[in-house]
Amino acid sequence: MNILVIGSGGREHTLCWKLVQSPKCKNLYVSPGNAGTSKIATNLGISVIDFESIKEAVIKYKIEMVVVGPEAPLVEGIKEFFESDDQLEKVSLIGPDSKAAKLEGSKSFAKAFMNRHNIPTAKHSEFTLATIDKAFNFLETMSPPYVLKADGLAAGKGVLIINNIYEAKLELKSMLINKKFGQASEKVVIEEFLDGIELSCFILTDGETGITLPFAKDYKKIGEGDKGLNTGGMGAISPVPFANEEFIKKINDRIIEPTLLGLKKDQLPFQGFIFIGLINVGGEPKVIEYNVRMGDPETEVVIPRIKNDLISLFEATANKTLNKIKLEIDSRSASTVMAVSGGYPKAYEKGHFIEGINNVKNALVFHSGTSLEDNKILTAGGRVITVTGLGKDMSSALKKSYEGLEKINYKGMYYRKDIGFDL
Ligand code: AMP
Ligand code: GLY
Repeated sequence: MNILVIGSGGREHTLCWKLVQSPKCKNLYVSPGNAGTSKIATNLGISVIDFESIKEAVIKYKIEMVVVGPEAPLVEGIKEFFESDDQLEKVSLIGPDSKAAKLEGSKSFAKAFMNRHNIPTAKHSEFTLATIDKAFNFLETMSPPYVLKADGLAAGKGVLIINNIYEAKLELKSMLINKKFGQASEKVVIEEFLDGIELSCFILTDGETGITLPFAKDYKKIGEGDKGLNTGGMGAISPVPFANEEFIKKINDRIIEPTLLGLKKDQLPFQGFIFIGLINVGGEPKVIEYNVRMGDPETEVVIPRIKNDLISLFEATANKTLNKIKLEIDSRSASTVMAVSGGYPKAYEKGHFIEGINNVKNALVFHSGTSLEDNKILTAGGRVITVTGLGKDMSSALKKSYEGLEKINYKGMYYRKDIGFDL
């Protein structure tokens, strides 16, 4: 089978790494791709939202399956684009349509979905410019920290957690009046702060059956001890020690089942990954957010722990036969540690030569922001490269991640030395 993976990060490199292991994989394409994917697939370099060029490539290369990595093309309606085109309608596309993708694309939509289906989440209210005075009054009734969320997609920056009420009001003004996040903050969700440890839950669903993939935990802050600015993710581990049988049962009964049932009741057909951002509040799981894709860097620890053939899993997703699949999980622990560009998540330099990747022998190297120029691998993004270790326990997995990272070098390289510290 000829397959196209859409995206260019560590998530897509990991998906490609797994897909090429399948005996069913004939030609693998990725678009736009990065230096890492170029070693195992053909990079096409097309933007993830350039649907017309993606269509041309699908026809030209006789692609039969498209796996969508990031949310933007899903929210923009790539699924409908394929379904409504005679030349593309037979291509299997892994990912939901734009209606279901609103679970990620609109916080307000996701909140309404959860409330409608009794799925535990933070209490909230939502406001626009017309109701800004009500928003100020609402803030007065809450206790700090104040959680303000831009309704729409804001490149992962749209959630603000603020301790001081004056600052919270200023931020609210800048979101609603000055459109700090553009259209995304024309509506703002204000919600109760939930105190607890977060974990990421991934479901692969064909719209009928959902298969729960291994749980993972992401480390979002730039600094050690989970301090400093939020990032796209500085590392991840799987499994998650505190996700014991009892806790997983609660997640399953109160969150996963009602989510799948809710999608059906609301007639939101969904064939793809659902990523549920959860928080453990005193032993009770609550939903922080939905995403309609895999997480990054969670993919880099979740996918290597899946033993099944990934193409078979995707075929079953497209054919609605996931009920016939038994997921086989590698019992080993996995860790991944992300190396970033100096300065990230603020301004950073690009174009630095990366050396030493080939010296990593006992771990998997997945590229995030890299490019290939004159056969040299260069930094090309904030998050640059991540190293995944697998081991009999978490400490041996982490040892492999860190030993691997020590072999890699580029100007300004930074990574957290404490991934897994809290477990
Ligand atoms: P989101 O973009 O919704 O995932 O939010 C980004 C991050 O903000 C989450 O991963 C949490 O760490 C934090 N967060 C979001 N909502 C809440 C909340 N209600 N209580 C506490 N932390 C939150
Ligand atoms: N690692 C979090 C995300 O992919 O959104």
